[in-house]
Amino acid sequence: MTAAARAGSSAAGTAATAGYDVAAVRAHFPALAEGAAHFDGPGGSQTPDVVADAVAATLRAAIANRGSVTAAERRADAVVLAARAAVADLLAADPGGVVFGRSMTQLTYDVARTLAKGWGPGDEVVVTRLDHDANIRPWVQAATAAGATVRWADFDPATGELAPDDVARLLGPRTRLVAVTGASNLLGTRPDVPAIAAAAHDAGALLYVDGVHLTAHASVDVAALGADFFACSPYKFLGPHCGVLAAAPALLETLRPDKLLPATDAVPERFELGTLPYELLAGTTAAVDFLADLAPGGPGTGGRRADLVAALAAIEAHEDRLRRRAEAALLELPGVEIRSRARHRTATLLLTFEGRDAGDAYRFLARAGVNAPAGSFYALEPSRHLGLGDDGGLRVGMAPYTDDADVDRLLTAVADFLAG
Ligand SMILES: Cc1ncc(COP(=O)(O)O)c(C=O)c1O
Repeated sequence: MTAAARAGSSAAGTAATAGYDVAAVRAHFPALAEGAAHFDGPGGSQTPDVVADAVAATLRAAIANRGSVTAAERRADAVVLAARAAVADLLAADPGGVVFGRSMTQLTYDVARTLAKGWGPGDEVVVTRLDHDANIRPWVQAATAAGATVRWADFDPATGELAPDDVARLLGPRTRLVAVTGASNLLGTRPDVPAIAAAAHDAGALLYVDGVHLTAHASVDVAALGADFFACSPYKFLGPHCGVLAAAPALLETLRPDKLLPATDAVPERFELGTLPYELLAGTTAAVDFLADLAPGGPGTGGRRADLVAALAAIEAHEDRLRRRAEAALLELPGVEIRSRARHRTATLLLTFEGRDAGDAYRFLARAGVNAPAGSFYALEPSRHLGLGDDGGLRVGMAPYTDDADVDRLLTAVADFLAG
């Protein structure tokens, strides 16, 4: 280990996070046996055995379209209802307003097109330059098609902060929707969503929150955030590759998405085009249960929602300890710039290297068995606004299975890259 890496160990400490047994967590991830240190969680987390087992078991059992006549139909129905209940516990949402889809991107396009049916010239939507493109382009394109105006809120590139006032001053009586991220997948910045929600609601606008990055790192309460719509992706929080949208059933009742004539008009099914991926929904439930089981001391008596809140607090503390340790050591290395600077952020670090290409660092680290990709990660507007063009930087993301040995390997590999 290099001096800088050792400094990182001693400066911020490698003592385990209280109440969080990362070795026990790691034992559930077969993929870790391949040997890489995974800092690529923000792109998609590794999957615990129980999630893979739930997916496989659903495919092995008799299953049909949802119904109540055969056991196979009842199984499909139970899988869907269980997944809605699990996501509702994860987000403190109403299970009757949990919509499943292929991805957050697909669900956001669907909602944007549906809402835009009611927009016209003079109407306005507000997007931010802190957001992933999946919470920008669907709104820009839907607004443009409807003849509505798009207004852009900028973040401060020096701090990575998005000030609620910089959103609020764009709002007016014709603002129909504000789209904002719960946490930036490039920088980790967590904007003050409740403050933005209050401003949006004062203006009579709806708030659409991209919760994809946030949900993997913190406990979420959709109502406390003030989100009218909250979208996230189970494959970022240890689940399978699908997307979720949560909204109040009463709000969903007011919307008329395009749908097939024989398909039910009930909410939330009205928004779920075609047959749902039952196996992925079973995996999503297993991922939520796995997270809940990480509550310090094991599941309590308060129910799954209470366990999830406790577990996510422990995960956040664990990831943040590792992030602080890595950050302290990386700052010691000459030529490393850490672009993630917001006061309130997830354990996600965007790095650039003076005079060196982040893509070269990515490939060097990969050869050392450290997976930390470089790019803009579809956060194109943030990358450009930071002055990083379309190339972005190297992203180091902590996950529930990240441990101190991973951080040691990261620090050694970055130091070796810089020395090369
Ligand atoms: C913050 C954020 N929003 C949206 C997305 C898109 O999610 P999906 O792949 O489910 O469409 C991602 C994926 O990386 C993301 O990180």
